[in-house]
Amino acid sequence: MSKRKLAVIVLAAGQGTRMKSKMPKVLHALAGKSMLSHVLSGVEKLNPERIVVVVGPGAKAVELAAKPHNTVVQTDRLGTGHAVKQAFGALGGFCSEGDAADIMVIFGDTPLIKTQTYEHMVDLRRSNDGPKLLGLAFRPAEPGRYGRVKQDAQGHVVGIIEHADASDAEKAIELCNAGILLGDGPTVYRLINQLDNNNAQGEYYLPVIFDFAYAEGLDTRAVEASEEEVMGINSRQELAGAELVLQKRLRADAMAQGVTLIDPATTWLSVDTKFGRDIIIEPSVFIGPNVEIADDATIKAFSHIEGAKIGEAAIIGPYARLRSGTVIGQGGKVGNFVETKNAILGEGAKANHLSYIGDAEVGAKANIGAGTITCNYDGFNKWKTTIGEGAFIGSNTALVAPVDIGAGAIVGAGSTVTKSVADDALAVVRGRLLDKAGAGASFRAGRKKIKEQKSNQNNENNKG
Ligand code: UD1
Ligand code: MG
Repeated sequence: MSKRKLAVIVLAAGQGTRMKSKMPKVLHALAGKSMLSHVLSGVEKLNPERIVVVVGPGAKAVELAAKPHNTVVQTDRLGTGHAVKQAFGALGGFCSEGDAADIMVIFGDTPLIKTQTYEHMVDLRRSNDGPKLLGLAFRPAEPGRYGRVKQDAQGHVVGIIEHADASDAEKAIELCNAGILLGDGPTVYRLINQLDNNNAQGEYYLPVIFDFAYAEGLDTRAVEASEEEVMGINSRQELAGAELVLQKRLRADAMAQGVTLIDPATTWLSVDTKFGRDIIIEPSVFIGPNVEIADDATIKAFSHIEGAKIGEAAIIGPYARLRSGTVIGQGGKVGNFVETKNAILGEGAKANHLSYIGDAEVGAKANIGAGTITCNYDGFNKWKTTIGEGAFIGSNTALVAPVDIGAGAIVGAGSTVTKSVADDALAVVRGRLLDKAGAGASFRAGRKKIKEQKSNQNNENNKG
C-alpha cells in the first residue's frame, strides 16, 4: 500500500432553506454536537494533511465552527464542482501535477458516514491496483432525486447522471450517488477544471468528473454503503431521523461497553458520553454533552444530566437535574427534584430531595436535607457555599452565599444562614416557639361561639 497525502474538502455552502432556520444548516445539532462537527471528527481520524471547508457568504458562525481548519467562501452557489474548485486556492501547491496526494470530497450535511467507510475508501484507493477515482454509492428504497451511477460490465463507473438530466432508462438505475468521492489529487484538479454548466440545472456538477475519467480510460469505481449511513439532512424531519440513527448507534455502543439500558429507546445520549462498567440507566433519561459516569453508578428514571462527572456507585435520580460543573463523588446520592450546578459533592455526600445546590462544595458524607437551597446569586454576582465533611443541613434551609458551614456542623431545619458556622457547631436560625397551655382549646371555643352568634343573627334577618 502506498503512502499518499490526503486533503479533505467539506462542502457546506448550501443555504439549507428547507430547515426554515436563521442558523446555517450544518450547525444544527445531533446527539449534542453540530452536524459539521460530526463530519469533521469523522474525517479527522484519517489524519489528513489538510481539511478545507467551503462555506457560503456571511456564514461566520460556520467558519468559527470549522476551526482550526481552513475555510473558503463560495460567493455564488454554482454547483458542487464549482464549490470544490473554490477550495483549490486553499490547498496551495498540494495536489499539483505529479504530487502523490489524494483529494476526498465530502458533504457537510451528511453526518452519519462512519470513519470505517472513509477508511475503506482510502485503503482501496491506496491499494496496489487501486482506482484513480472512487465514489460512494447506495441503493435507496426510493432513488428519487439522487444522481444515478452508471457502470460497465466490470463494475467500473462509466459516469454519474443527475436525476434532472436522466433519461427514463437512466432513472431506472438503482445504484445512486451518495456524493462523496476520493481520487488522485492532480487528476481531480485537472478534471474539475474541465467542467461546464451545460445541463438541466445550469450547475457545475462534481460527479461529471467520473464521466471524464472513464472516457480517458482511468480506473473509476464505487463502494456501497447503507442508505441510513449516507443520509443527507435538508429538513427538521430528516434531522430527527438522523438523531434516531445516531442514538441507536450510541445506545448499542453503551450496552456493548457494559451499561444496562433498561429502555434503550428512551435513553438519550451524547456522542461524547463516557461510561464505566455495570452502570444502570433507568427509562427516560437524557444525557447531554460532557458527561462521565463511573462504574456501578445508577441513573434513575427521568433524570436530565449535562456537564457532569458522576462517581463510582453514585445514585442519581429519579427526577434529578445535574447541570454543568457538577461532580458527584463515589457513592454520592442526588435524589428527586434536586438541581445541581457548579457543585462538587464529596464521597458519600447526599442531597436526596427537593434542593438547589449551586456554586457549592460539599464535603464527604455531608447530608443536605430536603428543600435546602444555596442562595448563590444576589441578582448581580454569584457566590460560593462550602459545606464541610459530615455536616448536616436540616430541611428547608437557605444558605445565603458566600457562606461556609464547618465540618461536622449541624444546621437546624428551617434556618436562613447568612453567617458562616464553625466546625461541629449547632446553628439554628428561627423564631422561638410559644407554647401556651390550654390556649388552643379556649381559642377553638371562642371561635365556635362567634360562628353560632352569626348564624342566629342570619335566621332573625330572614324571618323579618
Ligand atoms: C448531490 C449530487 C448527486 C447525489 C446527491 C447525494 C451533484 C451535482 N449531485 O446532489 O449526484 O446523488 O448529492 O445527496 O453533486 N454545495 C455547495 N455549493 C454548491 C452546491 C452544493 O457547497 O454550489 C454543497 C451543499 O451544501 C451540500 C452538498 O454540496 O452539502 C451537496 O449539494 P446538494 O445541493 O445537496 O446536491 P444534490 O442536488 O443533493
Ligand atoms: Mg442534497
